[in-house]
Amino acid sequence: MDERARMEFKDARPDQSMPIPSEDLTRQYAAIRDEVLDAVARVLPGGKYTMGPALSAFEREWAADCRTAAAIGVSSGTAALMIAFKAVGVGPGDEVIVPALTYVATAFAVSYLGGVPVFVDVDEETFNIDPAQVEAAISAKTKAICPVHLYGQPADMDALRKIAARHRLSLVEDAAQAHQAEYKGVRAGGLGDLGCFSFYPHKNLGAYGDGGSVTTNDAELAQLVRALRYMGQREKHKHEMLGYQERLDELQAAILSVRLRHLSDWTALRRRWAALYDELLADTPVTTPVCRADRTHVYYMYTIKAPDRDDLMAHLKRRGIGSQIIYPTLVPDQGAYASTPCRVVSCNRARSLTGQILCLPVFPELDEAEVRTVASAVADFYAAP
Ligand SMILES: Cc1ncc(COP(=O)(O)O)c(C=O)c1O
Repeated sequence: MDERARMEFKDARPDQSMPIPSEDLTRQYAAIRDEVLDAVARVLPGGKYTMGPALSAFEREWAADCRTAAAIGVSSGTAALMIAFKAVGVGPGDEVIVPALTYVATAFAVSYLGGVPVFVDVDEETFNIDPAQVEAAISAKTKAICPVHLYGQPADMDALRKIAARHRLSLVEDAAQAHQAEYKGVRAGGLGDLGCFSFYPHKNLGAYGDGGSVTTNDAELAQLVRALRYMGQREKHKHEMLGYQERLDELQAAILSVRLRHLSDWTALRRRWAALYDELLADTPVTTPVCRADRTHVYYMYTIKAPDRDDLMAHLKRRGIGSQIIYPTLVPDQGAYASTPCRVVSCNRARSLTGQILCLPVFPELDEAEVRTVASAVADFYAAP
């Protein structure tokens, strides 16, 4: 790693030692400790640690929360994406259209299957994949479109669904950052053929380790995903296809059930802090997040566009306030794609955004005084002579 990349990696990681960190799971654990320990204590003596009752219960609860017919637990968001792409038939040489501004996993999951991620630009206001660019990227090899509901706001799903239907393409949602987000009243995870969630600890719904889920309203796809996540079995000892070992374990499922009970309250708090930032930052030079009227945002990240972003970040750090750049480098610019097949159709807007975006602390356990402190620090930075 060169020096610049090392600094970017360091700066992009949350710093929990700050008085106001960008993320802090210790506060949440303190609030739900007894419930979590009870859940863990119920799993451990039972002797069943994979594919057991805690997983079945969580899958039922999570499907109900997503309002989808099925939810299948898997070992990570990355595994969810890889299995979803496999389930819709992505194989060697097949193209999947993805946004250039996302986490690498969206594209890596395509590449793991020998597919080719095709990178397209995002909308400058919502940061989400631009349907006009998707249309321009379609080729004879295109198999699927994968919108990412970045930072917690659903992508422009009607436009994408029309394109997918017209060209007979599958639509796989990367909903890793969008638990409980809605588009025209429908929750993320039920907006495409398959929805993919991450339960990485810091996600809006997280495990205490890695986890993920695939959601769907299609019974056949649900069966296929279930087989793919556990060695290609529909029945024990019958391995019909080359499946994977990507199960969600019982301990994580039990912990997820506990945290899911609090998710609506936590989402409401994220929205409350976001609304307060919107108000307090209105007269500063930063651009606050734009949420389209037909959808709801769950603020996995509160992402502003900030003039002199790097100086602002350093100023916040001096005041003991953590912030993050998610993401400092576009996926097609990552070293992995110097030697892995991909196609870049357009990414100028996304590239320019990487120099402007900054994510302010928005986790549920903040208090109002902390949000006001962060907003004042931002305002002071721009007010300084
Ligand atoms: C947009 C997006 N896609 C995919 C993933 C991959 O999820 P995981 O880290 O659980 O593999 C993440 C999580 O980091 C993400 O933010």
